[in-house]
Amino acid sequence: MSTTEVSSKIEYSDSEDRNALIAVKSHLIAGLLVFLLMMLAGLAMRAAQGTWLEIGADLFYQIMTVHGVGVVGAAMITSTGVQWYFLRQYVKLSNGVFWTNFFIFLTGVVLILGSIFVGKYGGAWTFLFPLPAISMGAWSTGAAAVFQLGLLVIGVGFLILYLDFGRAILARYGSLSRALGLTQLFGKEPVDYKHPAAVVASTMVLIVNFMGIAAGAVVLVMGLINLFYPEFKPDALLMKNLIYFFGHVVINATMYASVIAVYELLPRYTGRPWKTNKPFYAAWFAIVFMVMGVYPHHLLMDFPMPAWGLIVAQVLSFGSGIPVLVVTGYGALMIVYRSGIKWSTSAKLLFLSMFGWAAGVIPAILDAMVTVNRTFHNTLWVPGHFHFYLLLGLLPMLIGFAYFLAGEGDSKERPKAVDSFGFYAYLIGAFMTSMVFLASGANSIPRRWAAHLPEWIGFAQAGTIAASLVVLGMLLFIMRALISLPGANNPR
Ligand code: HEM
Repeated sequence: MSTTEVSSKIEYSDSEDRNALIAVKSHLIAGLLVFLLMMLAGLAMRAAQGTWLEIGADLFYQIMTVHGVGVVGAAMITSTGVQWYFLRQYVKLSNGVFWTNFFIFLTGVVLILGSIFVGKYGGAWTFLFPLPAISMGAWSTGAAAVFQLGLLVIGVGFLILYLDFGRAILARYGSLSRALGLTQLFGKEPVDYKHPAAVVASTMVLIVNFMGIAAGAVVLVMGLINLFYPEFKPDALLMKNLIYFFGHVVINATMYASVIAVYELLPRYTGRPWKTNKPFYAAWFAIVFMVMGVYPHHLLMDFPMPAWGLIVAQVLSFGSGIPVLVVTGYGALMIVYRSGIKWSTSAKLLFLSMFGWAAGVIPAILDAMVTVNRTFHNTLWVPGHFHFYLLLGLLPMLIGFAYFLAGEGDSKERPKAVDSFGFYAYLIGAFMTSMVFLASGANSIPRRWAAHLPEWIGFAQAGTIAASLVVLGMLLFIMRALISLPGANNPR
């Protein structure tokens, strides 16, 4: 992973580069495999709701829990692989800390799997207080505790990694505001169009995720104390706020970490640089605050919430995502327009991600309106919105990066037929999966119901067919990644 061609890039020894490449590939392969398994879990849930598969309600909720926590974990570990790969080219990052987080993550995964499949914990990845403690015999206190401990362990690993990000960014740029481009935005330094977008995005992710994970750690510790000392009763509304702040920030941050692949790879494929400028810095600065302020749109039905908080959240929800989406989407269109880009699978996936991200936020904005939320709250509209932007926005960025790393992006050959087939199976399947969820929500079908009423079953069956296409596409992507990635050299 030598980075000698651009003077502002960091030099590493060959052995450090070799080790770093193995580490990034390990993150990608582990993450993509978990995604595939979790998609199979999603397919099973859809088939069960559609009466094509018989599973008990307790197993359904265990699968729902492992699916939720599994995809969020996979999104975190894979997007961190993408982010670390590019960030280390501009600031001196430690391979040891990167590996440490990876192994801590795997330890957390083992704890979580044990809590679900041995301990039978099925209280959803959101572990909403006081549900973990009142299972009515479905799981033990110990199982709920191990689940939360697993999450806590994973959070600690990421906090250690972010300390290394912070150290390295400060060592190179002196301050987080300089790394974010604020000194240029506010005229204290001339605008440097070569200031790396990867550094701007990573600094934003570092700030928001540090806060999000710290809030998650606080709420997990409070939940753990409550499990063993029930007389300690934290305020339920405070717990819900902290959990939604944590969950919302963490999953959004995966998108902001992965978009670095768009900034770094589209210029390679088009032969045009991605120039950072004042609107770019302003957008990323705004999103630091917006991403932390939007989560209360999930709490619009919680009447004890202070009205001002909900109003602010509603306003921020309308605007959240738009600044970075606009500069990124517009930038991507401009950089590709008449560039003569070769549409490799990697390029297609990265471009698709812009559509998925942009279109996926629209149902979220609709649901953040109080009048709409009154009807759509806790319906399948909500999974519809996040499956849209995660399946068609986040995943294409991650898989597009995997294709690049597997050597596809730089080679002269055209995409193989199997790649093209995988791409369209995935695209159509993911679009249909999300649209069926949205249509179900619009028909008032509730989310998180193991058994569906007869009039809802047709939707679940259509969703099952769509999900099979997604799994097929993903299977082809994974096979390609597993065959080509391990031996691939670092793309220059
Ligand atoms: C083949 C692909 C997938 C299928 C068929 C699928 C299906 C499902 C189903 C049936 C549910 C439960 C819906 C309900 O409330 O009744 C669900 C929940 C969820 N899915 Fe997926 N999913 C897929 C992929 C993904 C991916 C790639 C992500 C994230 C990157 C994701 C994130 C989630 C989350 C966060 C939940 C919420 C779990 C909860 O309510 O606790 N899914 N999915």
